[in-house]
Amino acid sequence: MRLALIGALLLATTAAAQDLTGHGGPVSALAAGAAVAVSGGFDGRVILWDSTQASALRIARLHDGNVTAVALAGETRFLSAGQDGRIALWDKGGADPIWSTPKEVSPVSALTLGGDQVAAGFLDGRIARIDLATGAMTLHPAHEGRVAGLAFLPDGSLASVGGDLRFSRWDSAGTLLARTSLPDLPNGLARAGDALAIPFAEGALRLLSPEGEILPERFLSERPLVAVAANAETVAAAAVDGTVWLLDLPTLAPRAEVPGGTGPVWALALEGETLFAAGMQGVIRRLSAVDGASLGGTPLATASLPEDTSRGAEVWQACAVCHSLDPGDHSRAGPSLHGVLGRRIASVEGYDFSPALRAMEIVWTPETISELFEFGPEAYTPGSRMPDQRVGDPADRQALVEYLSRFAP
Ligand code: HEC
Repeated sequence: MRLALIGALLLATTAAAQDLTGHGGPVSALAAGAAVAVSGGFDGRVILWDSTQASALRIARLHDGNVTAVALAGETRFLSAGQDGRIALWDKGGADPIWSTPKEVSPVSALTLGGDQVAAGFLDGRIARIDLATGAMTLHPAHEGRVAGLAFLPDGSLASVGGDLRFSRWDSAGTLLARTSLPDLPNGLARAGDALAIPFAEGALRLLSPEGEILPERFLSERPLVAVAANAETVAAAAVDGTVWLLDLPTLAPRAEVPGGTGPVWALALEGETLFAAGMQGVIRRLSAVDGASLGGTPLATASLPEDTSRGAEVWQACAVCHSLDPGDHSRAGPSLHGVLGRRIASVEGYDFSPALRAMEIVWTPETISELFEFGPEAYTPGSRMPDQRVGDPADRQALVEYLSRFAP
């Protein structure tokens, strides 16, 4: 009976309402257009999707490590940027990118497109302007610390937010037009009608005017907000625990809250009445941008809950999307953490660690693992492919380490 009902539902819905599955690990970057979407993953792949058919049109491989940002340039062209510092323009056909930039700058942390100009932000605080047609690039200094988000405004100026807790706006020659201080660490930037929407590490979502004044703000979570998407009517934001909020513009009145449960949501994209949410398990979920209802068919809580109800097991849920605890199982984005305590960094066999990690001298102890998530991988192990995240509460770090110590070699 139940099966028959599900069958009937499947027949009643069209192919348009399917989730997009294809990445071999968490999805870190996402953009959506009317009929296509593009995504990038921790598996290094960039996928162009026919979003009405929910099928992959093109899988592009270039980046070494995580794909950190993507953008659509029309319905057949797309841009990708990576932790390897490269930016590339692709077409639906053809094996190679139309152009790609060299690895020489630093990891790309933000990317946006405005007309014929691409803007990219780097971990070292610089911004690049790239000609969409030719790939020619010029750089200018912008922030002290990571460029956390970029967006073009209707007048062609470029807004940026950085790890130096600053909002800045630039003209096309890279001259500063406005600069203000932000109250906390920004984690992204999206154009929201005439304003800019910014998710913050302290769990707040704020709207800023193009001059950088704070318009409404809304505290949504005790966990860091890590993703944002917006159009003229709606802002969507996601927290590191996977909860997604939909809010009305320009008031930021909450409209819907979608509980998480399967790990972080790292990227969001809004297209018409659809919200795409990507994070865990390689699935890009399709939600209603009106009320947050799941449209795509993947059950919300697909991760099996551990029988272990300790705090440590709970904290571990945020790691489990990328790390297995079975010895030798390196099939997720990160290595198996079985027996990690007492192990030298980047020493387990069978996993392809980044050169940055391989060059470091750390032994994983309760103390160093705890420090790793007190300061975050970006500060503690610069150049690591593990995305920046923290475990803020010392008691949670302790519980996490105790949990890991059960999986001794
Ligand atoms: C989105 C994916 C992702 C998440 C979530 C994640 N990690 Fe990682 N982790 C990685 C990757 C990728 C690496 C390898 C980094 C490299 O090679 O630069 C890594 C490396 C590590 C290492 C170093 C391992 C070694 O052998 O040197 C430790 C320890 C670690 N992670 C612990 C954790 C813990 C604990 C959590 C949860 C609080 C966590 N990670 C969450 C992706 C992730």
